[in-house]
Amino acid sequence: EDEFGMKNLVLTVNKLQEIFAKLTMQIDIDLPQIAVVGIQSSGKSSVLEKFIAKDFLPRGSGIVTRRPLILQLINNEDEFAKFDHSPEIFYDFYKIQREIEAETERVVGGLKAVSSMPIVLKIFSPNVLNLTLVDLPGITKVPIGDQPSDIENQVREMIFEYITKENCLILAVTPANIDIANSEALKLAREVDPLGKRTIGVITKLDLMDSGTDAVDILENKIFPLERGYVGVVNRSQKDLDEKLDIKIAAELENEYFENHPAYKHMAHRMGTAYLQKVLNKQLVEHIFKTLPTLRDRLRKYLMGLEDEYNHIESTSNVKLMNEVINQLKQEFRSELDGYGQKEVSMKGLTT
Ligand code: GDP
Ligand code: NA
Ligand code: MG
Repeated sequence: EDEFGMKNLVLTVNKLQEIFAKLTMQIDIDLPQIAVVGIQSSGKSSVLEKFIAKDFLPRGSGIVTRRPLILQLINNEDEFAKFDHSPEIFYDFYKIQREIEAETERVVGGLKAVSSMPIVLKIFSPNVLNLTLVDLPGITKVPIGDQPSDIENQVREMIFEYITKENCLILAVTPANIDIANSEALKLAREVDPLGKRTIGVITKLDLMDSGTDAVDILENKIFPLERGYVGVVNRSQKDLDEKLDIKIAAELENEYFENHPAYKHMAHRMGTAYLQKVLNKQLVEHIFKTLPTLRDRLRKYLMGLEDEYNHIESTSNVKLMNEVINQLKQEFRSELDGYGQKEVSMKGLTT
């Protein structure tokens, strides 16, 4: 039994996303997810990697993430990964990094440009909770090398495409060694979520703060209050990465850091990556629960539209595809969504 009794709900949302991704027609259904935003090198990839306890995301000093990466984490006994764009199953996570780079190149080419076309990666692992995360390109103030001069605006627009949606939880990553008043992540989040209702603050690089200073006031939600609060993390430094410090040992060191730090030990139980992972899963599920009635309405309208189209359609392959989709949706809808005490939705009248 999972802690929140709603693990299957998150799985269902992942399945729905899978079904919608297969459709050729445009569907306007915003499924809930969590997007990670922040400036370049604020530690976004480092935070994401720790959710899987594997090294697998491309890294570098430039703008490495140039297409949104949708990571669907699925708790599973066996560990492997699969992209939506390829049938290959990845057991070696180091190879994922190369595939993300190759797939990025395929769309944006050798240019240091960005593209809003997402890469979808499913990660099955015993070490993850069921979460969907979107890694977005980092905000870059100054174009480097042959980057287009409007790259900052391109990236901003791409970020807004995701975080403007009411059903998107925003993971706003801010490094502790800059003035939080200048946090690009929090500024962006505030533009679309002024009351901080769907923003979760993550403070990285606590270990890099000047000695004698700490981030307790921020972490205690006193400086820029967010309804969902802040979690502090300590990721591997560049030196740790160069020395290939194991990601699991790094996680233990992170816990020790909080437990032994005079300023943070009183709040150690709600700091660090493992705690962040729990908070995210809980809030994602609560969020899904809140948005269910709307999602349900829109799904129903969509299904009715499908039925209309189905009645007029000529092509046999389309009929077959729609039949499949209708059946899958009906199944998912019945077995999961209807089980959460919401208003009954009649599925009668759907032709199969
Ligand atoms: P991204 O560009 O936001 O995805 O940032 P990365 O995760 O690639 O991290 C950028 C650099 O900052 C890397 O060299 C990391 O090792 C380093 N870094 C990230 N988080 C921390 C942290 O909490 N502490 C320290 N010391 N270094 C960090
Ligand atoms: Na980076
Ligand atoms: Mg990155």
